[in-house]
Amino acid sequence: MSAKTVAVVGSGTMGQGIAYAAAVAGYTVAVTDASSAALSRAMDAIRAAMRGGVERGKLSQDSHDEAIARVFAHARLEDAVGEASIVIEAVPEILAVKRALFGKIDMSAGDATVLASNTSSLSISEIASGVNRPERVVGLHFFNPVHAMKLVEVVRGRETSAATIARAKTFAAALGKTSIVVEDTPGFATSRLGVVLGLEAMRMLEEGVASAEDIDTAMRLGYNHPVGPLRLSDIVGLDVRLAIADHLHDTLGGDTYRAPDLLRRLVSEGKLGRKAGEGLYVWPEGDS
Ligand SMILES: NC(=O)c1ccc[n+]([C@@H]2O[C@H](COP(=O)([O-])OP(=O)(O)OC[C@H]3O[C@@H](n4cnc5c(N)ncnc54)[C@H](O)[C@@H]3O)[C@@H](O)[C@H]2O)c1
Repeated sequence: MSAKTVAVVGSGTMGQGIAYAAAVAGYTVAVTDASSAALSRAMDAIRAAMRGGVERGKLSQDSHDEAIARVFAHARLEDAVGEASIVIEAVPEILAVKRALFGKIDMSAGDATVLASNTSSLSISEIASGVNRPERVVGLHFFNPVHAMKLVEVVRGRETSAATIARAKTFAAALGKTSIVVEDTPGFATSRLGVVLGLEAMRMLEEGVASAEDIDTAMRLGYNHPVGPLRLSDIVGLDVRLAIADHLHDTLGGDTYRAPDLLRRLVSEGKLGRKAGEGLYVWPEGDS
């Protein structure tokens, strides 16, 4: 095991961002995905993001070259996690998928490896329930886009050890992030609040209160939010937002997190937001 090796399992929106940030911070990054097509798209996207970093003056050419050379794609989970000191899972927000995956990661990772989930809302204790040593499982919730967002939420599961929390915080700091520690409650401190705005903005759009652009402008200029709640939902991915809303609705009760029909319809039509080219907005290629 190498202290400077990170494995990223799931190479979608967040896996790509975490891989990028870890490589730029000096870690060797082993990326894997259940889909070989997704893995190869992710490697292209990580390289493109790094080139973009150079173009925007955020990354020197030398740092770019070194960072790219530190990112490796692995078709097999075992190969990706075998050498890692920390494994970060970023697969879809479905408890059964994450729980099964952690069982496999647990068998392939070294004994001293921290097993982290990037879940936005699910219970870390439940994700850890199929793992032999749940004290090494922790939530490490990054935000999108990872390179720009300063927060990491560290989530303490029922059995997460103090040493695991400390290592998670050290890793977040090495990536230049500020971390907060949150107990294992649905949606933690971020999604539980942030999703409310997104869902209510969709309900307002359904009711015809204002256009999507104007609802977003209301929050940007009236409340100084950097991005409006509808545009942010598209950036996050409407499927991801729906999964979180359903989970919070099931666990916290009440009507606050009941998913609007509009959200369910867009997801069923495959209009998942920026990553699909269309969601609440239409996203021309390359638009961010
Ligand atoms: N999108 C966001 O803005 C955001 C922000 C913070 C946290 N999150 C959380 O991060 C996680 C991932 O979200 P995302 O938006 O990156 O999802 P995504 O749909 O963009 O990517 C998920 C990837 O996981 C892969 N995958 C599916 N099952 C797998 C398995 N068993 N093993 C390996 N790979 C598998 C898929 O092929 C896909 O490439 C979710 O838990 C989500 O809640 C998302």
